[in-house]
Amino acid sequence: MRSLIDILDFSAEEINELIDNANDMIAHPERYSEVCKGKKIATLFFEPSTRTRLSFEAAMLELGGSVIGFSEAQSSSASKGESVSDTAKVISCYADIIAMRHPREGAPLVAANAASIPVINAGDGGHNHPTQTLADLLTISREKGRLTDLTIGFCGDLKFGRTVHSLISALSRYTGIRVILISPEELALPSYIKRDVMEKNGMSYTQTTDLEAVMPELDVLYMTRVQKERFFNEEDYLRLKDSYILTNQKLKNAKSDLCIMHPLPRVNEISVAIDEDPRACYFKQVLNGKHVRKALIVKLLKEAGTI
Ligand code: CP
Repeated sequence: MRSLIDILDFSAEEINELIDNANDMIAHPERYSEVCKGKKIATLFFEPSTRTRLSFEAAMLELGGSVIGFSEAQSSSASKGESVSDTAKVISCYADIIAMRHPREGAPLVAANAASIPVINAGDGGHNHPTQTLADLLTISREKGRLTDLTIGFCGDLKFGRTVHSLISALSRYTGIRVILISPEELALPSYIKRDVMEKNGMSYTQTTDLEAVMPELDVLYMTRVQKERFFNEEDYLRLKDSYILTNQKLKNAKSDLCIMHPLPRVNEISVAIDEDPRACYFKQVLNGKHVRKALIVKLLKEAGTI
């Protein structure tokens, strides 16, 4: 049974096809309005979410299907001690596809191994968030017209930011990508990603703490929130949380066609004044997330022989 647990579960060709299909769904939504008629998605969210859960649900509704699920572990039998494997087996009796978010790294993989329906990783701890990556790739491709030959700055919490980990993995497949890692020392990208993803694939990267110094070089700036929920003590979080706040002043030497991204939620990392700047793409990312999740649901249900 095909699932999506890690973005590298899909080949570059499959990701490009998903982007093409999402673009077709944007252009011709009416052609897809009954593709999943009679089918159900179960959104199993053991951790809070606004965008990912509701975009999966909106996506399935727009495809003519329906939605079941829960939005917190406390309202499920996980609170009584039920395992992820048993939960996945049970939900396989009720739904056609699962989107699961869990605070524990690897939980969606455990679910996929137990389920008899496709499982989508909707974010597992500080590990991966492959469907955010699909939204990010669709956004970069629509805004820049390509996924190659780009200088991309990742700024903020690169240690715990699962969206960064998944997007860097995906970008390692494309040529001419230069990554600039911008973070405090304590929130640097984990060395296993530098070694096993970037160095292994010959990806060019540099590291700095100075956002303004590298701003003129960037085609894409990917801001991130400091992940409060992953910190072991509040004192460290409070010290690091406002390390980078993007303001109009900091953008003064940026390219005129810079694409400013953020997976959201935003806390304080981007001044709201920037929302009016045509280079701000983070709310477009939100909408693209729904479209590409539609394409993903259709792909996995077709491969499962469900539609
Ligand atoms: N980007 C993202 O995963 O947002 P949510 O936590 O609101 O789903």
